[in-house]
Amino acid sequence: MSKLIITGRRKLRGEAVVQGAKNSALPIIAASLLTKGENLIFNCPQLSDVEASCDILRYLGCRVERIDRTLLIACDAPDKNDIPDELMRRTRSSIVFLGAILARMGRARLSFPGGCEIGSRPIDIHLSALREMGAVIRERHGYLNCHAPKGLRGRKIPLPFPSVGATEDIMIAACLASGTTTIINAAREPEICDLADYLNKCGAHIYGAGEGTVVIDGVGSLRGAAHTVMPDRIAAATLLCCGAVTGGELLLRGAVPSHLGAVLPLLEKAGCELSVLPDGVGLRAPEALKAPGVVRTMPYPGFPTDAQAPFMALGAVARGTTVFIENIFENRFLHASELCRMGACIRTEGRVAVIEGVERLYGAKVEARDLRGAAALVIAALCAEDETRLGGVCYLERGYESLEQTLSSLGADIRKI
Ligand code: UD1
Repeated sequence: MSKLIITGRRKLRGEAVVQGAKNSALPIIAASLLTKGENLIFNCPQLSDVEASCDILRYLGCRVERIDRTLLIACDAPDKNDIPDELMRRTRSSIVFLGAILARMGRARLSFPGGCEIGSRPIDIHLSALREMGAVIRERHGYLNCHAPKGLRGRKIPLPFPSVGATEDIMIAACLASGTTTIINAAREPEICDLADYLNKCGAHIYGAGEGTVVIDGVGSLRGAAHTVMPDRIAAATLLCCGAVTGGELLLRGAVPSHLGAVLPLLEKAGCELSVLPDGVGLRAPEALKAPGVVRTMPYPGFPTDAQAPFMALGAVARGTTVFIENIFENRFLHASELCRMGACIRTEGRVAVIEGVERLYGAKVEARDLRGAAALVIAALCAEDETRLGGVCYLERGYESLEQTLSSLGADIRKI
């Protein structure tokens, strides 16, 4: 079990390049199952969640090779239509393989997906949409047995909530369905646009990605394509928080300001000076941060739930009161009690967390229990007095590519043991 040992109170300074987006790479890897011919996926982050998706493709009979951050994927003759339980449990995103396998093979057998325990994370929206499109889905003994006796058919599909995963699953399935699929109340996250860009390069006809209504005209087949994964807006937000709590000065190359529309104003409210550059974002943090106020997590373009934990660490050392209202997941304050071990003053009740900023946090032994909570503990440790020993590093590795090296290069005292 590895641990991160972090000695805090070092100002971060310098430049870092933002990694490729995990939440974009995962659905793109699943979508590549629809294609014949070679795919080259550039800027694909080296993360355990990404490796889990590659292993699913390999299990299905596809060729997947990695050279640094480039994946070569060829899915000419997949020969399986099931995903074993141990592969499904490795990542929540494995559920987007349902639409892909069903569309390509006509049948799919999957167990329920894993992922971080941040709420019940049902998949009812995925299932009811695929049923609308003609899939017959039976749930037995923890497995989903699915087939599409007459193939998948395009339909008008209004979503009860703009679920990111369900929008991706439906988009992928609809590419090879007959007729036109219209997703109403679709998720508008930038990762949806990245997936649509990739699929359109493969020959799909997807219109309106990034808007509330997405229209997909089914096509007979898709070919492989070359695509560069977009920069990770949550990794960017995390690094900006690292810079902010240490009173640092950072330049994040590749950060896309328009993807950070709900994040950057909070940093400004906290007293940071931001500069928008042609190829990134610069941050200069004050000596003492101000509380950013009331923060509500919302579907994009609202404040991302994935940035809630990193900003809670920031709020913990910002002068004044910060309030988080978590509207997306019901159990997403797992990091709060660990931050309290470091001296933070946080009360949570249901979906609300109230943080009274303290002058200083203190290093402690803490344990991460989910990906973004792990990032929050790193941020807290960077500004805490003395040494923090962080367990649960495997969660961090689901979503952050060699974070300790990046932070070290910016001047942090951090090492993995
Ligand atoms: C994706 C992101 C995750 C992010 C989340 C919300 C990936 C790989 N992960 O997760 O990092 O935190 O979006 O921005 O892209 N829901 C249902 N039924 C469903 C599907 C979802 O009730 O069938 C609920 C969920 O329980 C949750 C909410 O909808 O409360 C949002 O979930 P969703 O947008 O689907 O998130 P994911 O795609 O799992």
